[in-house]
Amino acid sequence: MPDSVLRAAGLVRSYASPAGPLCVLNGVSLDVRAGESVSVRGSSGSGKTTLLQILGGLDQPDAGVVEVLLPGLGLCPPRLALGRGVGFVFQNYQLMPELTAQENVALAARIAGIDAAEAARRAGELLGQVGLSARADHLPSKLSGGECQRVALARALVNRPPVLLADEPTGNLDERTAEEVMSLMLGVVATLGTALVLVTHSREFAERASRRYVLSGGVLSPA
Ligand SMILES: Nc1ncnc2c1ncn2[C@@H]1O[C@H](COP(=O)(O)OP(=O)(O)OP(=O)(O)O)[C@@H](O)[C@H]1O
Ligand SMILES: [Mg+2]
Repeated sequence: MPDSVLRAAGLVRSYASPAGPLCVLNGVSLDVRAGESVSVRGSSGSGKTTLLQILGGLDQPDAGVVEVLLPGLGLCPPRLALGRGVGFVFQNYQLMPELTAQENVALAARIAGIDAAEAARRAGELLGQVGLSARADHLPSKLSGGECQRVALARALVNRPPVLLADEPTGNLDERTAEEVMSLMLGVVATLGTALVLVTHSREFAERASRRYVLSGGVLSPA
């Protein structure tokens, strides 16, 4: 069986609310193995984004442990692996508006300590893999939503993370573009051997993952 690239055990997360603590995650555990795809569905407010942010080290749980694989180092807390252990794709792309597609992708590599020439080379290669070589010098404002999300996918993968976390990556796209972006994402992660944790409201896209879960009442259960 392939090794784990992401492990979470006993995650608990509550938020303060006027009515008292709101328990969003109540003992969530998940083990993602190299190259596999996992989908998470759940109604709005069920805690999917909270879970992904904790898995990626952007938020801390109140209790529980998360570890992600850092190539060469083994399983580490995600905050140590940021940008290298996990890649993120967000619903609203989160590109830097003043940078071109090429610069957006290369910047993520530069932040992870890759030298400028290698960052540019990787960015060019990944933009080719997502079919955007001809748009590499365009600013996000000159790209369609589907193209912006393809740039964001290239950026998320530029540091060759063992796992990609995608939070409703097709939520802002029309049906046809959503299908194109989803097929591209599944194809690219399969080619690179990257594991995927996909949060989606789409039953159809969720079905395309090799393992499927539903988050409800703070608990993650097989779908
Ligand atoms: N920083 C915060 N402070 C207080 N409450 C929060 C905070 N972030 C999220 N929540 C609450 O936690 C719950 C889960 O939010 P979360 O964004 O994780 O849900 P979600 O499943 O991603 O929803 P959606 O499908 O709408 O994106 C919601 O009730 C939300 O209002
Ligand atoms: Mg969300």
